[in-house]
Order: sequence, then structure tokens, then C-alpha cells
Amino acid sequence: MERPSIRSYSIRGTRITEAQRAAKKSLQEIHGIPVTDAKLDLNAVFPDAKKIIMEIGFGMGEATAIIAMNSPENGYLAIDLHPPGIGKLLSRIQEQKITNIKVIEDDVHVVLPYMIEDESLDGVHLYFPDPWPKVKHHKRRIVNSGFLELVASKLKPGGYFHLATDWVPYAESMENVFKTSTQFSGGVIDKPEWRPVTRFEGQGIDKDHRVTDLLYFRN
Ligand SMILES: C[S@@+](CC[C@H](N)C(=O)[O-])C[C@H]1O[C@@H](n2cnc3c(N)ncnc32)[C@H](O)[C@@H]1O
Repeated sequence: MERPSIRSYSIRGTRITEAQRAAKKSLQEIHGIPVTDAKLDLNAVFPDAKKIIMEIGFGMGEATAIIAMNSPENGYLAIDLHPPGIGKLLSRIQEQKITNIKVIEDDVHVVLPYMIEDESLDGVHLYFPDPWPKVKHHKRRIVNSGFLELVASKLKPGGYFHLATDWVPYAESMENVFKTSTQFSGGVIDKPEWRPVTRFEGQGIDKDHRVTDLLYFRN
């Protein structure tokens, strides 16, 4: 599998609590999906799901769990590569008896091309991706034209891509990247009531950051 040469995430060390480590060890087999280069049969993973939604970069997974519990008719594929967050979301799933989340631990630039069939997702959530504020780091921002092409190819026609950021220059950059894409239509929206405030968002709000939600549909 080819791995990206530029990282969209920072290596934050592997400070993981014993509980998170134990959850990873015992629960990944139950609520996780191992990374392979074979395409996933999403209908087998979520046999009764009305919609299949991918969340990219769920962090500690608190919003992921709330959204999934509030929409039990949908299936949620949650992708991240930060071990403490993986452990945390796995224990939330177990403790709250959530049956409609599967967790994949890897870079989404690997998961999307290798594991997801084209035109198979109904929606994609990307909440508070690392903003990379310094100009020299802008190349690390996950929302770029290549990434939009990749996401577009995996969404069904009419499928949605919902993003949120608390960094205004990143919101503007996202809008500009979407403007150059012929595959998406949409723009800035008010925060939908069903999207819970995420952990990262809460930290931004404490610093008076303005939050922008963006919603696009695949043409
Ligand atoms: C700033 S945090 C936001 C977490 C969460 N969505 C929130 O709002 O609290 C960004 C998350 O995206 C994850 N991430 C960054 N690049 C990623 C990639 N290429 N594939 C999967 N996850 C990624 C990071 O590990 C981190 O957990």
C-alpha cells in the first residue's frame, strides 16, 4: 500500500492511558476493522443501515458516539490514527452498547483508496481537522484539491461532505478549494443542531475562535 509522503497529522507521542490501551487490545477485534488492501463490503459491515457515513479524524470520539446513538438507522465508519483516541472510542462503544460504529485505525489517505469502493458512501464528516496555521505547514492541510477528488470518488452522487473548522483562514481556504472542484456544490451553513460540539471545537470556543460549518453535495 502506498502511504502519503506528507502527513496531515502531528505525531503527539503515544501517551495512552492503561484503560485506553486495554480497550484497544480487547475491543479492536470486536468494534474495529483491520486495514487490508481489499475493498470492504459495506453492506455486510452494516447490513441494515439506511446510510453509511465516514467520519475522518474523530479525535476522542465523543461527537462520533453521540451522532451514532442519535441516528441508529445509519452505519458510521470512524477513521483516525491516534492510539489514545482509538482506545477511547472503542470503550465508549462498549460502555454505551453502540452497535452502528466501526473503527479503522489508519491514515484516511490509505483507507479511502484501498478499502472503500467508489460511490459507496452516503456522507463524510470532517470535524476540526488540524488547522496547520503556519504558511510553511499549509501543505499539510487535509482539505486540498487531491483530497476532494478522492472523497468525491467514494461518495454516491448526491452524497454529502460536512466539514467544520474553528480557524477562519482554513474555512476560507476550504471554500476556495471547493470552488475549484467541479464535483461539489454547496458552501457555508449554520451549525446543524444534530452536530454536537466536539472536544477540539470546545477548546477553540474557549479561545474565542469563530466556528464555520460547510456542507457540500457531490454532483
Ligand atoms: C484537531 S483533531 C480534531 C478531533 C475531533 N474531530 C474534534 O473535533 O475534537 C484532528 C484529528 O484528525 C486526525 N487525523 C489527522 N490527519 C488524519 C489522517 N490523515 N487520517 C486519519 N485521521 C487523521 C488526528 O489524529 C486527530 O485526531
